[in-house]
Amino acid sequence: MTQELVIKGGMVATAEAVFMADIAVSSGKIAAIGDGLVGAEVIDATGKLVLPGGIESHCHLAQESSTGMMTADGYESGSISAAFGGNTTIIPFAAQLKGQPISAVLPTYDARAATSVLDYGYHLIVSDTSVPNFREDMLAVFDRGVTSFKVFLTYDIRLSDDQLLDVLEIGRDAGALTMVHAENNAMIDRLRAEYGAEGKLTPPYHTLSRPEQAEAEAISRAIRLARFAGAPLFIVHVSSVDGLAEIAAARAKGQALHAETCPQYLFLTDEALSRPEGGKYICSPPLRSATTQAALWQGLQTGVLDMSSSDHAPYRYDETGKLANGGDDFRKIANGMPGIELRLPLMFQAVHDGRLTLQQFVAMISSNAARIFGLQGRKGTIAPGADADLAIWDPNLSWTVKHGDMHDAMDYTPFEGKELTGKPETMIQRGHIIVADGQLVAAPGDGDFLHRARFGGGNGADPGDQSEF
Ligand code: URP
Ligand code: ZN
Ligand code: ZN
Repeated sequence: MTQELVIKGGMVATAEAVFMADIAVSSGKIAAIGDGLVGAEVIDATGKLVLPGGIESHCHLAQESSTGMMTADGYESGSISAAFGGNTTIIPFAAQLKGQPISAVLPTYDARAATSVLDYGYHLIVSDTSVPNFREDMLAVFDRGVTSFKVFLTYDIRLSDDQLLDVLEIGRDAGALTMVHAENNAMIDRLRAEYGAEGKLTPPYHTLSRPEQAEAEAISRAIRLARFAGAPLFIVHVSSVDGLAEIAAARAKGQALHAETCPQYLFLTDEALSRPEGGKYICSPPLRSATTQAALWQGLQTGVLDMSSSDHAPYRYDETGKLANGGDDFRKIANGMPGIELRLPLMFQAVHDGRLTLQQFVAMISSNAARIFGLQGRKGTIAPGADADLAIWDPNLSWTVKHGDMHDAMDYTPFEGKELTGKPETMIQRGHIIVADGQLVAAPGDGDFLHRARFGGGNGADPGDQSEF
């Protein structure tokens, strides 16, 4: 039988196995995997890896920060940059502004996302639980296939413990996953005030004002509140040794708990904030020590951390972004770093260096996000019936990161000059080539909205073991 498209002779890598095979694509889906497949169109993948396209499940596009600054990347430049970086799916945030009815959030982001080149979903950001019809409107958001939402325990949009319990219970009852940015606000406020009073305002004080114990306390509290509520929980951007230990302990006890870290915590340390343009490296939680970095690698290797997401939060290093308030007070510099195009190449470097297996790499850049965020069977795998979302990857290409070669709307990358081996060569989304020969083939708007399944696959949550600890 002649298929529409066959990718021939590549080494196929999924989270489960690595094997030589041809892949046939028909009507946007994987139709067959085997030897000697025949296609009307053929891509020769000899010497290449064929991977499920990356799922970028933590990125900020066309989104106002908690202080109201718009990201430099919208859905068009952000999704194009993601595609060049090996991704075929993005799940950015749709953020409720304080006082805004929940029902107004998705329509705002539907308009912003209309130019996405990649398939996309959203996580809702909940900033204000006091708005009218909060619960009913949250349920309507989940019905629309937005089945995860993020809350903060710091910044002005933070929730109290009581409010966190409220949203955990709503998520539990509706099969929606609560994601939490866990840092203790009181500790941070105190340190910021102290450093401010002493005139200690350079970027390194950003890290010092957000110590690991602030993160670990909030992670511990969120885990215990989720356990009390019987609700599933996802901890974003983990970057603390004690926080990681809390996650490992709770997971060992069977709690429905997932967590990510990000390449910046794995490849950069707090030394970066002392560089001449240290503000470029301000993000929260902040960059940490080499000791913490080693613990995070171990967390990934042992599966305590499910994935490495970019937390692409693009604010340019100019007066439209990080320098908008002068740049001489770390408290007034926008938090966040870009990274959507380099996440996969950075994580693949860990395969090249022998830190991760190829299967672990696929799990943490794609398959685990599909499983946790309601896309299993459709995205994040190479199997008959799944969307033909593929990255044909050159594992041997050595190259140097230069922001000038990238596709975002930023003016810097924190990884400038880094030497990497391995790069996506051809990207395929639902059977269509979207990147080839260094060129974008897709058009803005080619991405489809993804209606994601409930957490655990059904209507109810999977709260795991509820015994005390
Ligand atoms: O500093 C960061 N990570 N900014 C982006 C927003 C967030 O908290 O993830
Ligand atoms: Zn966050
Ligand atoms: Zn983020």
